[in-house]
Amino acid sequence: MSLQLNRTNFGNPINKGNVLSKQEAENLFNEWVLNPRLQLHMKQVAHLMKSWAKEKENLNEADQWKWELAGLLHDADWDQWPEQHCKRIIEELEKRNADPEIIHAIASHGPNHFGVAPETKMDKMLYAFDELSGLIHAYSLMRPGGYDGMELKGVKKRLKEKSFAANVSRDEIDDACNRAGIALDDVINFIIVKQKDVK
Ligand SMILES: [Fe+2]
Repeated sequence: MSLQLNRTNFGNPINKGNVLSKQEAENLFNEWVLNPRLQLHMKQVAHLMKSWAKEKENLNEADQWKWELAGLLHDADWDQWPEQHCKRIIEELEKRNADPEIIHAIASHGPNHFGVAPETKMDKMLYAFDELSGLIHAYSLMRPGGYDGMELKGVKKRLKEKSFAANVSRDEIDDACNRAGIALDDVINFIIVKQKDVK
């Protein structure tokens, strides 16, 4: 099954600044994503994206919402139409005249799968958070205290264990951090602190 998108342009530049409202995003999310585990993953990535935009990029609230939206909807079609991931959500956002930046971030969150290179900081952070967020969440579930007391070195140990969260590509994690120009340790530490807030 190929998920290659075979294009590199998404959305229409005249739609710059157009975003879904919170309510519209929530409705789409609830209609499309039925699996609670996937819902949690998408909410976690959304929270990481918003927090990074605010705290590390010092972006205003409108831009924070764009980052959050990309995180919230990046896997929206994975639950019901995995063979059309992420073509279907891209087409839906294009139909709704969403800002091309948001659509491009979603289209490039798995360059090996979709054939679209992350370009902007938003693209790159979505790619970096996606896999690491899942691995760190899996680690929290096997710890008695969950996220409490979780340390960088514990996460790095799990990363070295190929059998742990084996579906999480270590190569993609390295590739994502390299592209973002951010040290792996910094991304991990950020996720440890932020991710526990999402229930
Ligand atoms: Fe994801």
